[in-house]
Amino acid sequence: MPAFPDYRPRRLRRSAALRNLVRETILAPSQLVLPLFVRPGTGVRQPVSSMPGVNQTSVDEMVKDARAAAAAGIGGVLLFGIPAQKDAEGSGAWDDDGPVQQAVRALKRELPQLVVITDVCLCEYTSHGHCGVLVDGDVDNDATLELLAREAVSHARAGADIVAPSDMMDGRVAAIRHALDDAGLSSTAIMAYSAKFAGALYGPFREAAESTPQTGDRRGYQMDPANAREALREVWLDIEEGADMVMVKPAGPFLDIVARVKAETGYPLAAYQVSGEFAMIQAAAERGWIDRDRAMMESLLGIRRAGADVIITYFALDAARLLRA
Ligand code: PBG
Ligand code: ZN
Repeated sequence: MPAFPDYRPRRLRRSAALRNLVRETILAPSQLVLPLFVRPGTGVRQPVSSMPGVNQTSVDEMVKDARAAAAAGIGGVLLFGIPAQKDAEGSGAWDDDGPVQQAVRALKRELPQLVVITDVCLCEYTSHGHCGVLVDGDVDNDATLELLAREAVSHARAGADIVAPSDMMDGRVAAIRHALDDAGLSSTAIMAYSAKFAGALYGPFREAAESTPQTGDRRGYQMDPANAREALREVWLDIEEGADMVMVKPAGPFLDIVARVKAETGYPLAAYQVSGEFAMIQAAAERGWIDRDRAMMESLLGIRRAGADVIITYFALDAARLLRA
């Protein structure tokens, strides 16, 4: 490589046109996925206080939000459900008339081109708020697998393009893949939350999804944030079990994992910019401490640059609109 003064990197930074020409990382609306929270009823739109701009909505209102997102060119939506009733098993999760199942059918009817992804987990549906069934106070891995598979089949039967298990039970991707295939749903894809870390950044989401654990925490099943090599093993396990896409979550504090997963597997990779990452940017911007739009775009660009193909983000609609402006 030539050195100064032969090489002057500033030459290609002189104008916006030159910078555009040599930009390495491109962010496109089609790479963004918008999470949506669906609850029973009609005409319901309930703001989530810790996530400005995010609402729990009934199916009819959700379709409006999805329509706006589709019009802005976003790649897909990720659905979470808040059921009318919770129980110890989370049986609302596989209710074919539950909010998520109804939402999927409405989206496939109204916006057939939009990719519909459903979050597969029990924590929104269990009375105790854990991601699986409790046996002697502990989340029982193998007893949970069958329930997750039932939930995934119910979502897929409603028409979901992709099911996304976020529970972190061992063996769930294989259990879901076999159940889908047995139900004649071999075209439904699986996006596995493969490296999902137990961290401090899920608080606002738990308000939005009403899924805070009533006792204990999720460290017995979600990953230790200190572990990168283990994250790679989790990712490979899910790929071997049949995952079509893998995910790293959260995104911002785990960009090293995003980069390593992309480099080592080459698989389609999603990164989830979680509720706490969103809330931190929103809160600082509300105080006038940072420029919201610039911080938003920089956070998303960083996730793309690290290697994510798809970004799940509560900023999806606003970012897509800015990119199109
Ligand atoms: C539930 C689930 C969580 C998120 C997605 N699915 C929260 C959790 O594990 O408690 C987090 C999303 C966010 O914080 O934005 N399994
Ligand atoms: Zn869960």
